[in-house]
Amino acid sequence: LRWSWRLTWLAGIGLTGALGYSIYSLRHPEEQFEVDPDKKTLVILGTGWGAVSLLKKLDTENYNVIVVSPRNYFLFTPLLPSCTTGLIEHRSIMEPIRNILRHKQATVKFYEAEATKIDYEKRVVYISDDSEIKGDISHTEVPFDMLVIGVGAENATFGIQGVREHSCFLKEVNDAQNIRKRIMDCVETAMFKDQTPEEVKRLLHMVVVGGGPTGVEFAGELQDFFNEDLKKWIPEIKDNFHVTLVEALPNVLPMFSKQLIDYTESTFKEEEISIRAKTMVKKVTDKYIEAEVTNPDGSKELETIPYGLLVWATGNAVRNVVRDLMNQIPAQKDSRRGLAVNEYLVVNGADNIWAVGDCAISNYAPTAQVAGQEGAFLGRLFNIMAKTDAIEKELKSLSEAQSLAKDDESRNQVFDEIRERQKQLRRIKQIGPFQYSHQGSLAYIGKERAVADISWLSGNIASGGTMTYLFWRSAYLSMCFSTRNRVLVAFDWVKARLFGRDVSRE
Ligand code: FAD
Ligand code: NAI
Repeated sequence: LRWSWRLTWLAGIGLTGALGYSIYSLRHPEEQFEVDPDKKTLVILGTGWGAVSLLKKLDTENYNVIVVSPRNYFLFTPLLPSCTTGLIEHRSIMEPIRNILRHKQATVKFYEAEATKIDYEKRVVYISDDSEIKGDISHTEVPFDMLVIGVGAENATFGIQGVREHSCFLKEVNDAQNIRKRIMDCVETAMFKDQTPEEVKRLLHMVVVGGGPTGVEFAGELQDFFNEDLKKWIPEIKDNFHVTLVEALPNVLPMFSKQLIDYTESTFKEEEISIRAKTMVKKVTDKYIEAEVTNPDGSKELETIPYGLLVWATGNAVRNVVRDLMNQIPAQKDSRRGLAVNEYLVVNGADNIWAVGDCAISNYAPTAQVAGQEGAFLGRLFNIMAKTDAIEKELKSLSEAQSLAKDDESRNQVFDEIRERQKQLRRIKQIGPFQYSHQGSLAYIGKERAVADISWLSGNIASGGTMTYLFWRSAYLSMCFSTRNRVLVAFDWVKARLFGRDVSRE
C-alpha cells in the first residue's frame, strides 16, 4: 500500500510539473528570428484543422510564411455543438492563431482577411479585410511561390428556398452563439403573456434538418439542455418543448454501422427526440418548413412542419474562392465537390498549389481527422523540400569547387562530400504519398451516451453507451489544441454539473 501511495504522489508531482511547465512555455515564447527575404514565399489560406496542423509541423525558418484567414483563431469544431447550449463556453475551444504563430522558430505573417480570388498563373492571391473596422487599405494582393488552400467548406443549402434567410447553421462560433440566443428567445417568447397554445407549441418546436453527425450531436445536446436545466427553471414549457430531427435518407448517421444507427435511434426514442426519416425539406418559411415525406408504400406527400428554431445541418458546399479557381484550371473541369488533388495533395493542373481538408477532394470524408493528417503530411513534405533545396544548392557549389580543385587530394575530398550529399538527397526524397490512417468515428448522442466505430488492431470496434461517452469526453479533451483549452473545457464541464447551464439570453 505504501508503495502505491508513493507512486501516486510521484505521478501527481510529475503531472503538476508537466502542466506547470506547459503553462509557463505557453506564456513565455522564445525570441523569433526573421527569415531571409530571398527564401520562397509560402502562403497558407485558413486557420482551420488543415492549415493549423500544417503550421504545427512546418519548420518556418525555411520559408517566408504568410497566413491569411478571416478568423484569427483555430476552432476545435468537435465540441462546437456543446457551445449551442452553454455547456461549454465558446472561448474554451478557440485558440488564438497569434499564440500558435508566436511559438514558431521564425516569424510568420498573419493577415486577418478573406482570400477573394486566386490567380494561379500570376501566382497572386487577392485578399480583402471584411472585419468591421477597416483601414485606408482593405483590399490588396499577396504574391506567392507556393500556396496551400485550407479554406474549408460552406454550408450546403442546395438552393432550397428560404434556408439562408430563416435557418441557423452550425459551423462557426457565431453560429453556436446565435443558436444559443435563439433557443432562449423561443422559450421566453413562448412564455409571453396571452400567447396562444398553437403559437406556444410552434415556438417550442426545435427542428434540426440533416441526420449527419452535426444534426445528431446538436439534437442530443439540445434535449440534454431541456432535461437538465430548461425544464427545471421554466417548468411551464415541459409539455410543449420538442426536438425533431428531419432526414431525407431512411436513417441517421449513415457513416456508422447498422448496430450503432439502431442504438442512436433507440436512445433518441428514450430521450423523446422524434426522428423524421425519409423526409426531404423542399422549402423554408419564417414559421414552417415544407417537406416531402415518403410513406412506407412508396407514395409521397407534402407536409408542413411548424418550427420555432430551425437548425440546418445538411453538409458541405464549395466556397466561392475555390469554385472560381476550379473554373480557371482546365484539369479541374470535372470536379464538382472541391479541388481535385493528387496523392501528394497537389491541386491537379497547378504545380505550386496544394489543398487540404474540406476544400480538397480526396478519397476520404470531410472530417477534422482527415484535414489534420493532410496538414501534418504537407508540413513534413515542405520541410523535406526545403532540405532537398538546400542540399541541391550545396551540391552545385561542391561540383564547382571540384572543377576548380588544384590537386587530386582536394578533388577526392570534394568528391567524397558530393557522394555523401547525394546519399542524403536520395534518402530524403523517398517520402511516399499521403496515406490516411482512420482512427475511428465518434459522436455524442445525448443522455450521456456516445457512439464509436473505432479501428483497433486492424479490426473495428463498434460501441455505444455511457462508457463510450466517458471515452468520447476523454478523447476530445486530450485532442483539444492546447493545455489552456483542456483546462477551460474541463472547468466548463464541472461548472455545468455544479450550477447547471446559464439560461440568460445575451
Ligand atoms: P476548417 O476547419 O473549416 O477551416 C477553414 C478555415 O479557412 C477557417 O479558418 C476559415 O475562417 C478560413 N477561411 C474561410 N474562407 C476563407 C477565405 N476565403 N480565405 C481565407 N481563409 C478562409 N470532424 C471530425 O473528424 N470529428 C468531429 O467530431 C467533428 N465534429 C464536427 C462538429 C461540427 C459542428 C462541425 C461543423 C464539423 C465537425 N467535424 C468533425 C468536421 C471538421 O470540423 C471539418 O472536417 C474540418 O474543420 C475541416 O478542416 P479544414 O481545415 O478543411 O476547414
Ligand atoms: P453530412 O453530410 O454528414 O449529413 C447531412 C445529412 O443531411 C445527410 O444525411 C443528408 O441526407 C441530409 N439532408 C440533405 N439535404 C436534406 C434535406 N433537404 N432534407 C432533409 N435532409 C437532408 O453533414 P454534417 O453532419 O454537417 O457533417 C459534415 C461533415 O463533418 C461530415 O463529413 C461529418 O462526418 C463531419 N462531422 C463529423 C462529426 C463527428 O465525427 N462526430 C461531427 C460533425 C461533423
